[in-house]
Amino acid sequence: MSLIKISDLLPGVRQITFNRPDKLNALSTPLMDAFEAALDAAAAAPEIRVIVLRGAGGKAFVAGADIGEYQGDRSAEFIAYQMNSRRVFDKLERLAKPVICAIDGFALGGGFEIALCCDIIVCSETAQLGLPEGRLGLSPGGGGTQRLLRAVGKYAASDLMLAGWRMDARRAQALGIAADVVPQEALGEAVLKRARACLKIAPLAQAEMKRLLREGGDAPLEAAKSYEQEVLFRLYGTRDAKEGIDAFLEKRDPQFRGE
Ligand code: COA
Repeated sequence: MSLIKISDLLPGVRQITFNRPDKLNALSTPLMDAFEAALDAAAAAPEIRVIVLRGAGGKAFVAGADIGEYQGDRSAEFIAYQMNSRRVFDKLERLAKPVICAIDGFALGGGFEIALCCDIIVCSETAQLGLPEGRLGLSPGGGGTQRLLRAVGKYAASDLMLAGWRMDARRAQALGIAADVVPQEALGEAVLKRARACLKIAPLAQAEMKRLLREGGDAPLEAAKSYEQEVLFRLYGTRDAKEGIDAFLEKRDPQFRGE
């Protein structure tokens, strides 16, 4: 059975499914490798415009790193695994295409860290998100402490890390993490709705706005605003901007080409 399932939900929309349901899709080294290969393929395929991440089995998105690989005195392997996770998660975050994370059940540890690298998170009512590494005597290592802090602030992040509290879908929505919360059986349709909306945004504009969102938060405000205008002026010169403006005025749908 392959550890990652790939399916195209719609033309232009690639779903990558973590497929190790008997272990709640825990991120073993082979699963991480297969995930990275699937990400690379989706990033390189010009026809793919939107990526969806999901977990198989209905009980978990991803329940974190494979704790079995941590047992014993394996410092070198442990460090290599952590460095690799950081690299792959950074790659996910920097992907130039929108990534929608569909969370069904547990998204813990590395699973939640993956979600925090995505652009839009849609949860089913069963979602449980958390960073429980402290219960193992560890702390997160794939960017989770810092991305969560920046996403929700110190107090909500402390609750998850220091108390090991798991938040449910409604709390995730209240904190602005989840864009939508739907019944479990409606998760697929909710994801498709968001994916169709993403397909209507010009791809170059999407890629530029992703970078603004990613880098702007850590930049001084004036510098970030200057960068914002640089981006806009560049986009104004693109073929897609001309097409978007013409299509609006001609009352038709734009045909974007990523140019
Ligand atoms: N690594 C390895 N195996 C894991 C795992 C993980 N992160 N999370 C779950 N599993 C395995 C369990 O060992 C179990 O395997 P088994 O059937 O061979 O014994 C299977 O997945 C089902 O999990 P189980 O614990 O029986 O389900 P549950 O519903 O009782 O509990 C969780 C679900 C998510 C609360 C619990 O599995 C858990 O706490 N997982 C670890 C979460 C974590 O600490 N993640 C951060 C890792 S750094």
